[in-house]
Amino acid sequence: MKDRFNEGIRIEDARGTLREACSPLGADVDFNNYSILPGFTDVHVHLREPGFSYKGTIMAGTRAAAAGGFTHVLSMPNLDPVPDSLEHLRVQTEIIERDACISVHPLGSLTRGEKGLEVSEIEALAPYVAGFSDDGVGVMDDGLMKEAMERVKAAGSIVIAHCEDTRFPRESHEAEYRQLARDLDLAARTGCPFHMCHVSTAESIRLIREAKRAGLDVTVETAPHYLTLSNENLEDDGRFKMNPPIKTRRDRQVLLEALQDGTIDMIATDHAPHSAEEKAKGFAGSAYGIVGLETAFPVLYTKLVREGVLPLQRLVELLTTAPNQRFRIESRMPEETDPAPTFSVWDLEHPYRIRPEHFLSKGWSTPFEGWEVYGKCMMTVAGGKVVYKR
Ligand code: DOR
Repeated sequence: MKDRFNEGIRIEDARGTLREACSPLGADVDFNNYSILPGFTDVHVHLREPGFSYKGTIMAGTRAAAAGGFTHVLSMPNLDPVPDSLEHLRVQTEIIERDACISVHPLGSLTRGEKGLEVSEIEALAPYVAGFSDDGVGVMDDGLMKEAMERVKAAGSIVIAHCEDTRFPRESHEAEYRQLARDLDLAARTGCPFHMCHVSTAESIRLIREAKRAGLDVTVETAPHYLTLSNENLEDDGRFKMNPPIKTRRDRQVLLEALQDGTIDMIATDHAPHSAEEKAKGFAGSAYGIVGLETAFPVLYTKLVREGVLPLQRLVELLTTAPNQRFRIESRMPEETDPAPTFSVWDLEHPYRIRPEHFLSKGWSTPFEGWEVYGKCMMTVAGGKVVYKR
């Protein structure tokens, strides 16, 4: 056990309890050689069911999450049917109840069918969803976004915004930060809690910083690929194609600084599986989206913690307490006599290569293929059940 990595995480307290907690589970893990971390929460995951099970399923997606140490995920609403009403949401929750091996918290859509023409049934959905998003597309109509924010606020929920102004080229900085500026203005006027998805530009960071300074109820996530790659690393391969696209080296540097100074609140993967054919059409022709659940912690631990950008404790906060507080998710490290512990067990000492053919996810496309990383998930326990074991 390398305690320098675990400073502040009460591993010492937990170890004895865990050994006891795990023996009835049939889990014979040698806790002396591994590190124990809380189960992670990913607030940005595409599970693809209902509607797109050829790309991914709730069963495969939650197994991939467990293999990456995640015990809670928020599922994005770009599905068929889109969860814009209780009736449509129920189609998804029935599959979750049947097939999910970890906790899945669905999001409702902001607009009907994510078409940006009419606000969803916010009041009916609010008690059953973790928030509202039209992820995959920006809401272009200012009046409609204002109405959505007013109703989300009144319902006691939160807007989770994919900021993309389609009047600008998708790869431009403007596409992201111009719509963010509009949204922050609406959040100030309506008082609606606002969370920005997958920030990728320096300009957006400046706007978020100003909004936080002005006291707005605003948070933001970024993803591992924006923190570890720049557009200089792009290859003509679908593995590098996602929305928003990866920006410049300077943007990446600004994101890292924003992570260090707390402007960025959490890290989420934007796990977005597609079929092999959809990702085999080169950079220009492939679908937008890469998988991320099984590589997030190893990539972040290797590139940020081991290279001295962040302490491990801060990385763990970005993946646990920060998202859990924002989205009111209950998840805790095991305490004495806890009958239902939630945690993950990691080998942080032995490097290995990322091999997508070993993923449990249905989609395999990742820019991290072949990377040598540290951080191998040995076991994940959610609510006292072993949900992944190597
Ligand atoms: O890369 C992406 N994939 N970005 C999005 O906004 C949507 C997602 C998807 O659903 O495939």
